[in-house]
Amino acid sequence: MDERTVTPKLVETEKKLDQNLRPKDWDGFFGQEVVKQNIQILIEAAQKREEALDHILLYGPPGLGKTTLANIIAHKMSVSLKITSGPAVERAGDLAAILTNLRADDILFIDEIHRLGRVVEEILYPAMEDYALDIVIGKGPSARNIRLKLPRFTVLGATTRLDMLASPLRDRFGAIFRLEFYTPEELQKIVVRSAKILDIPIEATGALEIAHRSRGTARIANRWLKRARDYAQVRADGVITEAVSKDALSLLNIDKLGLDDLDRQVLLSIIEKFNGGPVGLNTISASVNEEINTIMDVVEPYLLQLGFINRTPRGRVVTTRGYNHLGLTAPDASFQPTLFEAEA
Ligand SMILES: Nc1ncnc2c1ncn2[C@@H]1O[C@H](COP(=O)(O)OP(=O)(O)O)[C@@H](O)[C@H]1O
Ligand SMILES: [Mg+2]
Repeated sequence: MDERTVTPKLVETEKKLDQNLRPKDWDGFFGQEVVKQNIQILIEAAQKREEALDHILLYGPPGLGKTTLANIIAHKMSVSLKITSGPAVERAGDLAAILTNLRADDILFIDEIHRLGRVVEEILYPAMEDYALDIVIGKGPSARNIRLKLPRFTVLGATTRLDMLASPLRDRFGAIFRLEFYTPEELQKIVVRSAKILDIPIEATGALEIAHRSRGTARIANRWLKRARDYAQVRADGVITEAVSKDALSLLNIDKLGLDDLDRQVLLSIIEKFNGGPVGLNTISASVNEEINTIMDVVEPYLLQLGFINRTPRGRVVTTRGYNHLGLTAPDASFQPTLFEAEA
């Protein structure tokens, strides 16, 4: 299958890169100031009271640092991080096994927590609330409920889709944080740090150019850094300058705001096939022949952030800025010719 180059989702071969570049402490973690400070307060308060950390939910588009934060939090609390994910926990028994293996104060990281099944979720409720595991022993009339005590522990949930989380589950988190897209200056710092770790010669302006084309996403900035290194070594003298970054990424069809072919196709199809909208995401996804999840998690959040599309109750519309980015002129909404004017 063709992997879309700009997808912030983890590509299998990138797992190692992700791990190598993942900061283990706050000093390598840039941006997300509000989230960072709030988490630092949670950690210190829990440590002062000698309690387990409150359950924390992190949400936001892929590649912004959810897994990274989970690792830093566990490191700061000096506890171990047990990692699982919504789709990996198929049956209630799977979760029961994970829970009974936790030690006191452990952090259970549940990635893509919105994909947990209903039945599994119901095991999680008493576990989060009372550190208890309710299980049924036996079958039929002789079946009985027993309640097992669990050690106190912390659930750290991560999701790209807060809206898909059942509200009883959402309510069990003491703290919910939204990760934001990074500014170019923050991404520049991330790129410079990564380049240092990977021993890649880079100029500040080269890092900034990569940052501008990384659609606010740390994972993409690291990916473009590698592509720029390849280009620098093959077509230049090995140093990533502003020109090298520009040329390397233009060759990948990444424009100066980080948009790729799919982003432009989405904008164009709304404009050309649906008169600029409003049109629903399902229809957009069918018309560009791309999975709706990719459109929802990756394409839409960034186009919204740039102000290139708007969400209305009847669907998505392309804004004047969206038209202009493609070099098109938006139809003037205030000019609606009447029959009389049209004939005149
Ligand atoms: N704030 C940050 N500072 C530095 N690097 C970051 C930051 N956030 C993310 N990264 C980098 O981006 C990559 C992807 O982050 P990750 O935590 O896996 O994202 P998510 O779990 O939200 O998809 C990591 O390997 C890490 O190197
Ligand atoms: Mg992750």
